Amino acid sequence: MSGQVRPASELLDRLVAEARAARERAYAPYSRFAVGAAVLAADRIYAGANVENASYPQGICAERAAVAAAVTAGERSIDAVAVVGSSEEVTPPCGGCRQVLHEFGPNMLVLAESRSGSRAEWTLAELLPAAFGPSSLA
Ligand code: THU
Repeated sequence: MSGQVRPASELLDRLVAEARAARERAYAPYSRFAVGAAVLAADRIYAGANVENASYPQGICAERAAVAAAVTAGERSIDAVAVVGSSEEVTPPCGGCRQVLHEFGPNMLVLAESRSGSRAEWTLAELLPAAFGPSSLA
């Protein structure tokens, strides 16, 4: 990771566990693809799950729900995010969520764990190179 200290591995394990627990609370009756996410901010963890809607485009992704919880609690800087989806493959954050995450931590660590426990990790900068962000508006 460039530009910041990697969070302790116990904290990252807890982050993934919280994402996995949040996944159990997803509301995904349309896609049947439950996703849980958790963000790490100032050593605190905020979880979210995908919340779908009968008006399909109104559904929100787990990562965005987790970011909203963190920001609502007063956080403005996110160090890491964990995502657990419903596939045997890891679920990386969708493009829209990458953009939303970038706002609060362009160098954050991104962890994704499959249902069976295999893990992948990237930096957000790897997943969203040449991003448009707050400084792009200057
Ligand atoms: N989903 C997420 O929650 N996060 C992602 O990064 C990928 C997709 C949700 C949206 C929708 O409720 C379901 O997964 C299927 O796309």
